[in-house]
Amino acid sequence: MSADIKRISEAELEEQKKYENKVKSLLAQRYRDKPLACVVTYGCQQNVADSERIKGMLSVMGYEFTDKRNEAKLVIFNTCAVREHAEDRVYGNVGALKKYKLANPDVIIALCGCMMQQKHIAEKMHESFPFVDLVFGTHVVHRLPELLYKALTRRKRVYELPDTDGVIAEGIPVRRDNEKKAFIPIMYGCNNFCSYCIVPYVRGRERSRKVEDIRREFTELVNSGYKEIMLLGQNVNSYGKDLEPRVSFSELLRILNGIEGDFRILFMTSHPKDCTKELLETMAQCDKIANHLHLPFQSGNNRILKLMNRGYTREKYLSLINYAKELMGDELSVTSDIIVGFPGETYEEFLDTKSLVEEIGATSLFTFIYSKREGTPAAEMDDPVPHEEKAKWLAELLELQEQMSAKQMKLHAGKTFKCFVYGKGKLGDNYLAARTDGNLIIEFEGDEGLIGTFQRIKVVEPLTYVLRGEKI
Ligand code: 5AD
Ligand code: SF4
Repeated sequence: MSADIKRISEAELEEQKKYENKVKSLLAQRYRDKPLACVVTYGCQQNVADSERIKGMLSVMGYEFTDKRNEAKLVIFNTCAVREHAEDRVYGNVGALKKYKLANPDVIIALCGCMMQQKHIAEKMHESFPFVDLVFGTHVVHRLPELLYKALTRRKRVYELPDTDGVIAEGIPVRRDNEKKAFIPIMYGCNNFCSYCIVPYVRGRERSRKVEDIRREFTELVNSGYKEIMLLGQNVNSYGKDLEPRVSFSELLRILNGIEGDFRILFMTSHPKDCTKELLETMAQCDKIANHLHLPFQSGNNRILKLMNRGYTREKYLSLINYAKELMGDELSVTSDIIVGFPGETYEEFLDTKSLVEEIGATSLFTFIYSKREGTPAAEMDDPVPHEEKAKWLAELLELQEQMSAKQMKLHAGKTFKCFVYGKGKLGDNYLAARTDGNLIIEFEGDEGLIGTFQRIKVVEPLTYVLRGEKI
């Protein structure tokens, strides 16, 4: 583990427990009923997982939860920095709380997450939003009790944004949003420095949780009835490279697959540069691992991939997908993230992205127009194509995706799948929505009591983005 990465000691966590008690007594003195907290989460699953830890700590400190910001005594915005759009939403939503805060001075407004970890943003927040009480970065989430205590007792604003390579904090209470589906972060940070991406600057260096800690959390979830467990990391394929002894992601998957119980393992995100044949074989061989590979290729053009600093070519990517298909056949679903309009990308180069989508037969795509991130190498590159033009390319891509998705769905007519029923459907009032092992969505008519269980569903009609089926 590199020099500046730190595992938070038990003594430090004990210290935080003392603050939890202090906040709890303070709140009991101030409020007759338990005060409400509202945690607003932007961005990726890692942020969702962080928010579940934030809520875990708040719950221990005596807060109840609400979705209504103007009912809460504490509002925390857990922000995302990946694209400008996410940042603009934060400015808007924080600004909208000014009146509420001024009318209710006892309310605490807090900001955390990736956006705050950027110096220029933290400075802007300090200048433009003086009514924000607490701002903390991605490396001090475990210190929330202490920071909140300071915010509740001091007149001054609290800003805690240390610039480190990152920490690992085990044993923080978690309050999960869902009773059947859970996220487990297995590693934090990123070392890849893709030229467009802010994440390595705000989330620190790659660091893996220990196998024992992951296995413990996983087993507890299975024992309490969780059915879909997603392992999270910016690049799960490099899991364990920093552990002593080294463990590979495939080895971790095999260990978790061996845990007794009826559950499904999902994971994201895989990086093509580090995706091994061994991982694909592990997916094919282990019955509890979903046949879903979220393997973002970002661009189908080798010049752009090089400028993006992605570390693979279109040909290497295709050979991985072909091998995965050889092993898993139609059961495999491949999804990807794509950036349209990277600086200097030409229309012809964008067409290579479209043709790669066609070649791999992606089931769904997360598509983004390139967003300039201050401090990244791509922000210094010439970017002559106007936004409206890029928006046209994106629309073309979405149209292609619709055709591809419909084509994929047709492959499954008449098949029967073991599906996890995750919620209410959209096709009609009594429809439920379920996911196949390959992460396809299948809707069927059924009783709400089936939510949270596995069921066998037969496809009766493939639609454009979902399958319609019936329970057998
Ligand atoms: N602009 C647009 N999309 C981006 N992503 C990351 N950084 C940027 C950016 N600057 C996308 C990538 C990544 C996903 C999480 O977000 O496609 O895989
Ligand atoms: Fe960003 Fe690339 Fe790391 Fe993903 S792998 S978080 S896109 S730098």
